[in-house]
Parts: sequence; C-alpha cells; structure tokens
Amino acid sequence: MHVIHLSVECFPLAKVGGLADVVGALPRYQRKLGVDAWVVCPYYDKRFTADHQFLVVYEGIFYQGSEQLTYRVLKESSDTLGFPLYLIHIPGKLDRSEVYCYPDEAEQWIAFQHAFLHWAKSWDKKPDIVNCHDHHVGLLPFLMKYADDYRMFASVKTVFTVHNGQYQGWMSWNKGILLPAFDTWKWGLLDWDGLINPLAAAIKCCDAFTTVSAGYLQELHMEANGLEGLFRSESAKGYGIINGIDTLYWNPELDQLISEKYVAANVAEGKLVNKISFCKKMGLPTDLPLLAFIGRFALEKGADLLPQIITQVLSNPENKISIFILGSGDAGIQAGLEALLLEYPKRFSVFFGYNEALAHEVYAAADLLLMPSRIEPCGLNQLYAMKYGTMPIVRGVGGLRDTVVDVDYDSDGYGFVFANADSADACTAIERALKKMQDTRTLNEIRQKEMSLDFSWDKSARQYVKLYDQLLD
Ligand code: GLC
Repeated sequence: MHVIHLSVECFPLAKVGGLADVVGALPRYQRKLGVDAWVVCPYYDKRFTADHQFLVVYEGIFYQGSEQLTYRVLKESSDTLGFPLYLIHIPGKLDRSEVYCYPDEAEQWIAFQHAFLHWAKSWDKKPDIVNCHDHHVGLLPFLMKYADDYRMFASVKTVFTVHNGQYQGWMSWNKGILLPAFDTWKWGLLDWDGLINPLAAAIKCCDAFTTVSAGYLQELHMEANGLEGLFRSESAKGYGIINGIDTLYWNPELDQLISEKYVAANVAEGKLVNKISFCKKMGLPTDLPLLAFIGRFALEKGADLLPQIITQVLSNPENKISIFILGSGDAGIQAGLEALLLEYPKRFSVFFGYNEALAHEVYAAADLLLMPSRIEPCGLNQLYAMKYGTMPIVRGVGGLRDTVVDVDYDSDGYGFVFANADSADACTAIERALKKMQDTRTLNEIRQKEMSLDFSWDKSARQYVKLYDQLLD
C-alpha cells in the first residue's frame, strides 16, 4: 500500500507545533507495518535543508493564474528519517525561512498542492491513499476529484486529518482563479459562507477524515469555528484516532538532551538530578516542586490565564512551589509574564521562544506540567510529560480528557483534571497536586504508573492502516 502524507510541517524539517511531531513520526510507524508511506512537504530555507543532501527527482512548470511557476522536487537522500521525504521547491513561493505568517500564504499553499498533483501525474502508478494534514492541504481532495487536469486521481482515496479545526485557511473567491481549472459546477464544495474554505472543502470531499482524538471528534459537533453543522452532517466518515508519541525522541531512557537518563525504577533519583541541574541553570530553587508550562501563548492553549494562575499560586505562602514557562506568542501575555519575573524573581522563570532541547530538559526536571487549554485536539505535551514521570494538570477537554485520568477520583489515575478554563479551577488542581506530592511513596507510584502507560505510535499507526484498508476494500 502506497500512502502519501502531505503537510506543511514535519519534524525535524520544520516544526511549529504538534503537527510536525505527528507527520515526522506516524509514517515511520506505518512503514513498520509494511505500508510504503512517504511525506511530501514544501521546501524551506532552514537548517535542516542546509545540513542535508537532496536529489532532484523531478522538475516541472505550471500556471497559477497568469503566473508561470517552475518547481523542483527534491528527495532527502540520507534515509535517516525512517521514511522518504520529498520537498517541493518553488522559487519565490516555497523557499522561505518560516512556515507561516506570510501575506501570500494562500498562494503558497495553492502552489504546493498544485505542484504535488502536477508531479504525481508523472508517476507510473497512482498512490493508494493521499493523507492530507490540516487546512493548508485541504483543497487536494476537491482538486483530485474535480480539477480538469487531475481527474486521473478521482479514484484515489483521500484521508484528511484534522489537527486543529480552528484554522480553516479561508480565502476570498478572487483567489479562485489561482486554482487549477476545475468543474465550475462544483464550486459550492469549496465554499463556506461566501469564502473558499479549505478545511470545509476537505471534510466535504475526502473519503474519510480523522481527528487526533475521539473526544475532539465529538467536540467538533458543538464547536468548530462555524463548521459544527458540517462535522455533524459528515460524521459517518469521521474517525477519532489518538496521536502517539515518538519514543525514539521522547524517552528518558535514551534522551541525549537531558542531564541524566532514567527509567521507571529510578525515576525519583533520575528526576532529582535533572531538576537540580535545570533549576541551577534557570536560577530557581532546587528543593521545591517545579511546575512547568510549555507551549504557544494563545487563547486556545489558555496561556492568557497564566499570569493570573502564577500570581494566585505564588502569592499563597502555603504553596511551596516554583514555576517555569517555555513558550512564545501573544505579546500581551508575554508582557504579563515579564512583569511577574520582577515580582517573583526567585520562584519564577521563563524562556521566551521555542527551544526543542530545553523542552526535553523541562520534561525531565519538572514535577508537574500545566495545560489549561480551552481547545486541545490531542495535546502531545501531556503525553511527553507522562513518559518522563511528570504529572499532568490539565483542563478536561479534547485529547487531554481522553488521555489523563484524575488520581483523586480514580484509584488507577495518574494526573489532575479540572473543568473550567479559569485560574480558580487551575489553582485548585495545582494545590491538589502539591498535596499529593507530599507523600513520596504515592508520588513514586504515580510516576511509575505514568511511565508504563503505552502512548506509543504502534497502536495508533495500526488504526490508520486499518482505516486505509477499509477504504481500499
Ligand atoms: C495541533 C493541536 C494539538 C495536537 C497537534 C498534533 O497542534 O492543537 O492538540 O496534539 O496538532 O495533532
């Protein structure tokens, strides 16, 4: 079975969020199951592309509106990723240093999708499955069925994976002329409320869609940034498949990026060594429980609540705790956190930006990981945390609710779940966690339990392959 994953993020080529982690791991696990899975991404002017060797495998020309675009397809030639990675290079469009936030994003992603089809048309054999990830490649299921030049793909099965339904790729209809010519009778499939909506088009035209947790699939029926009705009416082809984690990179037993490797049996000692070295580096006390947050400063992640949560937790003299935050995003949130650095210089520290290596250190060093998300399609951070024996404190939403069981309400539990995205609820949960930590035996048991949970990709990769098989039947 030949499966093509299309995405604009893929670890380690280009990572902004969890999408990259999934696309950089799932294909490798699918290959273990005998599937010939490839990844196709835009080319980026990044360290990865500078450090790796590529082979030009194809060159072509197509029109985007009246603009003639020349593209090259490069194949990564080291074979160290565990799956074939192809990059589409288009001078002036797909050759940037960042993934997002360019004013011509619509033109970039249309060009990416068109170039892929143009290239795929030259193959001897059509792929069996095209698995598109998020709205950037959401036009493909439509184009494969209704674009005049690409009808040969109409029978190829398409799967669309929703990593985040909040972003839909809206573009005004004047971009319509940039698309490869298509059956204009079908324009309604691209439309949602007077705009071209790539996410909506994907849900309408794909053969099946997946969400990155079962809980999120249900939530999309109620809250999908305007597409609730669509998700409800198309629910027969929806599947919730929880993400896994790549235990090659996220594993305290093998992790080269942490001070001291450890396993479940010596988790207490292992985490202590990591905490001491990390806290020294960050100017934090080494003898207090450490709470961390890692992520984008966005409303979705509940990051706007952080300043209030931190103030409430640290201003209570009974709470023996220090806090570390790693992330970037909204400038207002960042300013709020900066002010707190002055107020609590000894017990609060921040790293503004994204730093993959530091994230590994944080998971190994922290006792608690906070995720006050308003929306969380899957959430990988809680899974990484658990793998490192760090207790998650999460809002019960989407994938967080599906993967974290509250230890105060279930004797098999191993984390803390709170109901509302507000600082009062978050603080109560943090205080429950601090109380639990006072009993070192219980703490150790919880840590060992978390570390033994199986959130690896093996199980989920199998579910994807089962879905592909079903579609091909
Ligand atoms: C998005 C979601 C996150 C999910 C990730 C990978 O970033 O916000 O919840 O884990 O995609 O699927």
